[in-house]
Amino acid sequence: MSAFKKTPFVLVTGGKGGVGKTTVAGNMGVELARTGRRVLLVDLDLGLSNLDVLFGLSAVEARIDQALDGTCSMQDCIVEGPGGVHLIPAASGEEAMGALSEDRQAKLLELIAEVAPQYDIIVGDSAAGIGPEVLGFASVADRVFVVTTPELAALTDAYGLIKALGQFGARSDVDIPTPEIIVNHAKGVEEGKAVAAKLRSICERFLARSPRQAGWLPSSVHVARSGASQSPFALRPKRALEQLCITQIASRLERLAGRGDADELETADAAMVQKLIPTPARAAQTV
Ligand SMILES: Nc1ncnc2c1ncn2[C@@H]1O[C@H](COP(=O)(O)OP(=O)(O)O)[C@@H](O)[C@H]1O
Ligand SMILES: [Mg+2]
Repeated sequence: MSAFKKTPFVLVTGGKGGVGKTTVAGNMGVELARTGRRVLLVDLDLGLSNLDVLFGLSAVEARIDQALDGTCSMQDCIVEGPGGVHLIPAASGEEAMGALSEDRQAKLLELIAEVAPQYDIIVGDSAAGIGPEVLGFASVADRVFVVTTPELAALTDAYGLIKALGQFGARSDVDIPTPEIIVNHAKGVEEGKAVAAKLRSICERFLARSPRQAGWLPSSVHVARSGASQSPFALRPKRALEQLCITQIASRLERLAGRGDADELETADAAMVQKLIPTPARAAQTV
């Protein structure tokens, strides 16, 4: 159940650092904004935030920790980012923010709830790991996306996170949505599917949970460059594979976020994806 009443909340998380959580959350947010939704991105990686850096907005005036301390309002923290997406930046390198007490976390959710009615969807960019903040934010999310890469270490951590989410849900008697898997740095649609299927089968066997795949993203110089040049690749003019992949991931949230003005775009995108994918893979493509 969303903590923000009518505004749905999606948490992008992942067991391991560096797997692409911020890349996915930021570009998915931009993609949803580009297609007409009012999107609020919240940097919930409170100790080591970097969403604002991804967008080249490092000179922001107010951050989450100041709103929490009462020195400004949450509204004061909102900055407009690329593509019309709105962003609430967090502090970086603040030890106290890295470990948020339960009270401060509840206060933070209350503060976000105050600004939530202005938006169609709220996307949270989470820290790595299975700390209480990550589990707490997931427990109030409508959807949880877990980002992994094909690497064993990332997959093991993704499994650990899905397990911890289940245990936390049972312990605190809340229904945490079964996470959906995003495979970043996949070589192609087939590898993305295979990696997600492997993780899913382990979860089915040991956790009695069946996480579906929400999408995949290729390793791409454009993605790497867009991180380095501080401009989201979702806004690049040429519609390349990585952009189609982010469109596909964002379209998973279509029903939750309302239609926006995306009808036409998505039909065109679907046709382009079909063209880009070689024929043998097409039959197997269900993501
Ligand atoms: N698909 C990709 N292709 C190329 N580089 C990527 C890709 N995904 C992420 N990166 C790069 O990897 C680094 C870590 O990504 P980031 O999104 O910050 O990870 P996390 O938030 O999980 O720690 C960044 O420099 C980012 O630009
Ligand atoms: Mg990050």
